[in-house]
Amino acid sequence: MRILAIETSCDETAIAIIEAQKTGTKTKFKILGNDLSSQIALHTQYGGVFPMMAKREHGKNILNILEKVLKEAKIYKLNKSALYDEKIENKIENKIENILDRESELKELWPAIIPFIVKPKIDAIAVTTGPGLEPALWVGISFAKALGLYWNLPVIPVNHMEGHIFSIFPKNGKTFIVDSDKKIFPMISLLVSGGHTELIFVKDFMKYKKIGQTRDDAAGEAFDKVARMLGLPYPGGPEISKLAEKERENSALGRLESATAQARGIFQQENIRASQSTISSDFVLPRPMINSKDYDFSFSGLKTAVLYLIRDLEKEHSYILQNVGIKQKIAREFEDAVVETLVSKTIKAIKEYKVKTLIVGGGVSANKYLQEIMTQKIKENKLKTKVHFPSKSLTGDNALMIAIAGFFQFKKKNSRLPLKANGNLQL
Ligand code: KG4
Ligand code: ZN
Repeated sequence: MRILAIETSCDETAIAIIEAQKTGTKTKFKILGNDLSSQIALHTQYGGVFPMMAKREHGKNILNILEKVLKEAKIYKLNKSALYDEKIENKIENKIENILDRESELKELWPAIIPFIVKPKIDAIAVTTGPGLEPALWVGISFAKALGLYWNLPVIPVNHMEGHIFSIFPKNGKTFIVDSDKKIFPMISLLVSGGHTELIFVKDFMKYKKIGQTRDDAAGEAFDKVARMLGLPYPGGPEISKLAEKERENSALGRLESATAQARGIFQQENIRASQSTISSDFVLPRPMINSKDYDFSFSGLKTAVLYLIRDLEKEHSYILQNVGIKQKIAREFEDAVVETLVSKTIKAIKEYKVKTLIVGGGVSANKYLQEIMTQKIKENKLKTKVHFPSKSLTGDNALMIAIAGFFQFKKKNSRLPLKANGNLQL
């Protein structure tokens, strides 16, 4: 069957079309079309995502993306003759107007585009209903409802977090397989994004239990806020990561230089002191809740600690934020603190729940240092757990992951979610 999926939970307007064929525990997927329009450039100007602005942008862009993706899937055909049964058409048009009532941008563009597209060969529409920003979610939901009515197709509500779990399956090519066989379970999923930080125990295929979550800020949110304190643009994760990496390179180079100097016998006390001054001895930030008995996280205190650190440093030196070296050191210590906390709790969960597979998903799963340390600690602890990260283009929000989750939700007919936005929807 073919599924068209829509994702508008935050700042990406995304649509994908997949074809799925299930045989036993294996489902073969073919990606027919997949595209998105990112609002990052717009939100960067304001330092974060404003829900009403995100909503307007989704409304303006979604029809354009639909046309692009239908073309990519080669199922875009214009209805030039436009031979309608006017009576039926008017009845539907009224209902659609009601559905799109709160989506003014979409309502305005719809009549100029949708009636001219021949109903494409798809079998169902999947849409993210939460969690996320409710005004943004509603654009996708209203669009899915209206299209479902117009093309007479079922609409499948999808949990965005379940999408992130499925995001690890597509790799580089156009086809991929999801095997729900028992041998990959039990599983733990660490979902880390701008809105969420959760540890999910997946006992069996699509059987979820949240075992821990952040008590305040999400990991990505902390990256974004600390980046702002350091004068870096939104989204802050990749920016902080770049600075932190540079600092790690610098200190590794410093260590190497002093070792070489020592070996050459031109060792000087000054040299070694400078090279040993790595970040951890310069600034120490807390690792909140790292030793707590539960699987919860907290990043708000860490963020405040960075704020105080910058304030203290400013008392001693002026123009602290123009000092790239200091910014790199703060970024590194901050990234170390976040990654150590995330990895420590995840390893604890892997051991306690004896899991065979670890899936890390969400925007922060793009973090190279997190990937590196997670893999390293699994090895160091002699765990047999297989760890999976999404391919780079699927770490952030996308509609492909919603299409996969949508297909399995469609197959699992008895557990439909309501077709309405729920900003705090739980797995
Ligand atoms: O999943 P996502 O695209 O959107 C939400 O559902 O929130 O995640 C976006 C978040 C942002 O907070 C961004 O700063 C963070 O993911 N992020 C990163 C990296 N790339 C994106 N955080 C740390 N390191 C990265 N490389
Ligand atoms: Zn997300």
